[in-house]
Amino acid sequence: MQKRKTVPDFLTMKKAGEKITVLTAYDAAMAALLAAAEVDMLLVGDSLGMVVLGYDSTVPVTMDEMIHHASAVRRGAPGAFVVGDMPFGSYQTGTRDAIINGGRFLKEAGCDAVKLEGGLEVCDTVTALVRGGISVIGHIGLTPQTAIQLGGYKVQGRDLESAKRMVAEARALEKAGVFAIVLECIPDELGRIISEEIGVPTIGIGAGVHCDGQVLVTHDLLGMFEKFIPSFVKSYCKLAPTIKEAVADYSREVRSGSFPDKEHSFSGESNLRELLGLS
Ligand code: KIV
Repeated sequence: MQKRKTVPDFLTMKKAGEKITVLTAYDAAMAALLAAAEVDMLLVGDSLGMVVLGYDSTVPVTMDEMIHHASAVRRGAPGAFVVGDMPFGSYQTGTRDAIINGGRFLKEAGCDAVKLEGGLEVCDTVTALVRGGISVIGHIGLTPQTAIQLGGYKVQGRDLESAKRMVAEARALEKAGVFAIVLECIPDELGRIISEEIGVPTIGIGAGVHCDGQVLVTHDLLGMFEKFIPSFVKSYCKLAPTIKEAVADYSREVRSGSFPDKEHSFSGESNLRELLGLS
C-alpha cells in the first residue's frame, strides 16, 4: 500500500523541485486505481456536482453529498492523502460553520485536509481552520463557485490589475496558513510568478507548467466526460467511446442470446428436470 504523504512532505517536494500530482476522485473504485498509480494527492472536488451528480454547476453540491463521496474515496484509498473540497455555503457563513464543516471532512470522511475557494475574503476563515487543526488548500484564479460573478468560466488575471490582485491574494493566503494553493485558469507567466513568490506549493489547473504541481479532473484526463472539455485539459485516453462500444456489444449479445455462453454459466445436474420430478 502507498505510504500516506503528510503536509510537510508537500512543502519538502516544493523545496526539492519535485512536482506534485493531484487528481480528483469521487468513489472508492477510482480512488483505488489512482492510488495504485501513485498519485500524490486525491481531491474530492465539488466538481463532483457536474461530473458525477449531473448538476449544471458546483453550487448545488451539499456537505452531505461531499461527505458521502469523500468517505468512499478514503475507503478505496487508505494510503492516499485525501482532500475534501468545501462546497458552496459551507464556509461563507462564518468561521464557526467553516470549522464545523471542515471538521466533518476529517472526522466523518477521514480526509487529511480541506480546500476552499477565494482570496482575501477567506483569509480569516483559513486562519481559524488551521488554528482548529484543519489543514487547508486555497484556490484562486477561476473559482467555479463564483464563476457567475467572474463573468463565466474564463481565464483570470490577464490584465495588470487582476494579476497584481492575484499575487497579493496568494501571499495573503500563505500568511493565513494554507499549505498549498490551487491556481485555476490563469496565464502561465502569472502561474510562474506566483509559484516563485510564495513558499507553499502551487497546484495548477490551466495555469501552466511552472506550478509546483498539477491537478486535473480525472474524468477529463480519461476522456469520460463529453459534455464540456476545457481547452487546458489533456485527455490521456478516450474511455467514453470505449465504454459505449462495450455496452453496445453487451446489449447486442444479450438480445441475440449469445451472452451468457457456456464459459460464463455454471453447469449442474444434466438431468435436473427429472430429479426435480418435472416431466
Ligand atoms: O472541484 C474540483 O475538482 C476542483 C479542481 C478542479 C481544482 O476544484
